[in-house]
Formats: sequence, C-alpha cells, structure tokens
Amino acid sequence: MKSILTPMITEKITLKNRLVYPPMASSKATEDGLVSVETLKFYDNITRSKNIGLVIVEHSYISIEGKASPKQTSIATDETIEPMKKLVEVLHKNETKAILQINHAGSAITKKITGEELVGASAILNPRKGNIPKELSLEEIADLVRKFANSAKRAKLSGFDGVEIHSAHGYLLNQFLSPLSNKREDEYGGILKNRIRIHLEVVEAVRKEVGEDYSIFLRLGATDYADGGTTIEDSKIVSVELVKAGVDVLDISGGFCGYIPEGVDLKEQGYFQSLTSAIKKVVEVPVVLTGGITNIIDGNRLIEEEKTDLVGVGRAIFNDYTWSEREMKRI
Ligand SMILES: Cc1cc2nc3c(=O)[nH]c(=O)nc-3n(C[C@H](O)[C@H](O)[C@H](O)COP(=O)(O)O)c2cc1C
Repeated sequence: MKSILTPMITEKITLKNRLVYPPMASSKATEDGLVSVETLKFYDNITRSKNIGLVIVEHSYISIEGKASPKQTSIATDETIEPMKKLVEVLHKNETKAILQINHAGSAITKKITGEELVGASAILNPRKGNIPKELSLEEIADLVRKFANSAKRAKLSGFDGVEIHSAHGYLLNQFLSPLSNKREDEYGGILKNRIRIHLEVVEAVRKEVGEDYSIFLRLGATDYADGGTTIEDSKIVSVELVKAGVDVLDISGGFCGYIPEGVDLKEQGYFQSLTSAIKKVVEVPVVLTGGITNIIDGNRLIEEEKTDLVGVGRAIFNDYTWSEREMKRI
C-alpha cells in the first residue's frame, strides 16, 4: 500500500515523498514580476526542513495583460530567467523538486492591474471577479498559445523540473472550459470538445518546446459547483483528453467556485476528494488533491485509500514554516 512517504517515480520525475506545496501566490516579486530576495527567503523558509517532495511555484504570468495581481511573479520575458534560476537553486538545495505554474488571468482582473485591455473567452462578466473583457480573436488565441509555450520554455531554461498549466479558479483557460464564461460560437465554444480546444493546443505547443522527457502538469478547475457550469462528468472527459494530449499529472481544484468553494464541508480534510477519486478512475496518470488538509495523518490516509496520489498542503505551510517538519515526524 502506498503512503505519503512512498516516493513517486515516473519516467519523467522522481519525488522523494508525496507531500506537495501547491501554487500559492506569495506577492513578493518586484513590480516587474522578478523573483526578489523576499521571494527567495520565503521559499527557503518553507522548504528548509527538507520534508516536501514537490513545490509547485506560484502562478506566474505569461504576458502582461494576463497579470493577476501586483507583485505577482512573471515568466513573460527572458529577463525573468536568471532570477527564476536562483529560486530553483534554493528549492533544489532544500531537496525538493520544483514545478512552475504558468498562467494568464484573462478577465479575472481589473484594468487597473495591467493598464492593458482585458481579454477573455467571451465578452461577458467573469462570474468570479474582474470586468467585462474583449473576446479574443482567433489570431489572438494563436498568439496566446505561443506565449504559454514560450513561458514553458523559459521555465525549463530556469531549471524547473516541470511546468504546470493553470486552468482553474476562473482564470483564462478555465474561462474557455466553463460554459458560464464561454459563449463563443466558433470552434473554441459550444460543445465540450471545442471548449477544451485551446487547452489541447497549449499542451501540444508546450510539449514541442520542452520535449518528451519534461513533466507537464495541469491544474484543472474540475467543477464550478454552479448551475450551468462545469461538472465532474465534464471533467472526467476533459481529463482523459488532456492525458491523451500529453499531460503527465492532473492537479485538481475548483473552477469558478475557487479553491475554497461554498457547498463543500470545509472541515473535511481534502474537500475535493470526490473529484480526485472520480478522475483517478478514468486516467492512469498521478493526481494531486489539495484543499483543507492541515493534518498529515488525514493526508496520508487519502493516499492509502487511493483517493489521490499526491497531497497538497497550502495554507497550513504558508502560515507556519515549521508545519512540514513537525507533521512529517508523526508518520
Ligand atoms: C494566498 C493564496 C494564494 C494562492 N495562489 C494560488 C496560485 O498562485 N495558483 C493556484 O493554482 N492556486 C493558488 N491558491 C490556491 C491554493 O493552491 C490551494 O488550492 C488552496 O489554498 C486550498 O488548499 P489549502 O487548504 O491546503 O490551503 C492560493 C491560495 C491562497 C490562500
């Protein structure tokens, strides 16, 4: 039986254990999105006890109009590579593997953040936050796909062990997936196959840039928990298609319901476990479960009971650097 201490070994990546620090915006980058001394200090603090198998570094914008918040990290230009290398060095020194999450916020922002025109799948109000965007043209979609691929290449050049494509929490790729925000009438809208066309194109373009041996994770907003939104039945189909396209690990979270959704028992350790359990039944690749886990014994049990392959612990570690050292001793 697998436990949280069992290494995860795939052809592309080896993790010494199954404890993951999920992407958590630390808001410590410079105004230009470069990794700062504070960023390095923060990641050193949370990993220095050398108990975390994998860190998925916070969402980093692939292009300026996709920036989600001030002091967010960027992977949009070649200038970001050298500072990112320093971050990878810190994480590798602390014996954890490192993945970079790459993101475009789409319409989940206000113009104030970027000074640029907002873009989205359709020109409708983002159900979670933000303003009405301009609908992306076909040329702009092709350009965005390229920007995801270029950013993935920069992540690889920075020394990251893999890259994670963000399609959760109401950001741009999630806006294409969800019928709540995608009202397009072209080949990127309508039926599910069309709503994940951009995802499949991004995965394909990223794969071309990073090569066959490199890990591609994808964070999937697997349900919106809203009438007319994405359901777990959709996400089972999406997961299968993403894996066929080349995704190596599925990191499961919420869609427009966010990462701390209403309507689930927030006291439940691993409140998205019904989603990971369902997705695990339809794909062979490892799955990450994050949400509400504050206790390693429960996190371990979720792996033992095969509800997930990897366990993410976000806020508990973010708020207490000693968490992983203390909790891992209890196993
Ligand atoms: C301050 C903060 C920043 C976050 N930043 C990101 C992010 O950059 N990318 C992402 O996919 N999720 C992000 N999340 C969601 C977390 O990865 C995680 O899914 C959520 O906190 C629930 O897990 P937890 O209960 O272990 O904290 C963030 C959450 C918080 C509280």
